[in-house]
Amino acid sequence: MKFFIDTANLAQIREANEMGVLDGVTTNPSLMAKENIRGDEACKEHYRQICDIVEDNVSAEVIATDYEGMIREGEELHAINPAKIVIKLPCTAEGIRAVKYFSKKGYRTNCTLVFSVGQALLAAKAGATFVSPFVGRLDDISEDGVELVAHIVRVYRTYGYKTQVLAASIRHTNHIVKCLDAGADVATCPLNAIKGLLKHPLTDIGLEKFLADHAKVNA
Ligand code: G3P
Repeated sequence: MKFFIDTANLAQIREANEMGVLDGVTTNPSLMAKENIRGDEACKEHYRQICDIVEDNVSAEVIATDYEGMIREGEELHAINPAKIVIKLPCTAEGIRAVKYFSKKGYRTNCTLVFSVGQALLAAKAGATFVSPFVGRLDDISEDGVELVAHIVRVYRTYGYKTQVLAASIRHTNHIVKCLDAGADVATCPLNAIKGLLKHPLTDIGLEKFLADHAKVNA
């Protein structure tokens, strides 16, 4: 399973990248706003900086909700770094049409704000590179986000769709582990959830004992 980090924070992206396990970055307008990135040029510059840190897979989201606007913005985002940028488009009728347009041009896309298997089917049929079911936001309303990931994976495998299932809105470490079981191709996670995978009290206790034993004989 690939790991993306779900943030626009450059320090966190650098930290995750330095761990050596990062395959990409996802951003969205809320995450950009959290970093106080204002205006088109500042956004583009920020994406450029993210592309300088990571090797590939930088999802950059359009703001437009109409087809023509999505195409214009998607072209501009792609031009920032054609080898690394993935154009992120909402799962609306206009968004699906734009996914199709970019997929025909060979540009990679991430179809976002997916909450049902029907939406995921349309994204795949339009040729999306990634589809992003939002796990945490479904859990927030007492639905089962991980079950949606598993359902999409089953459907894509049954019909041979190549679209990769990117589990998004991951809130904690257990979501990542459950998405592994569900067969997600990618999980995009906050840094804390990634670091949480490392945590085990027996690792800490074991290391402390090793170091204490080493210190005893080397005193
Ligand atoms: O990848 C989508 C993600 O950023 C949404 O996460 O926590 O706002 O539901 P959240």
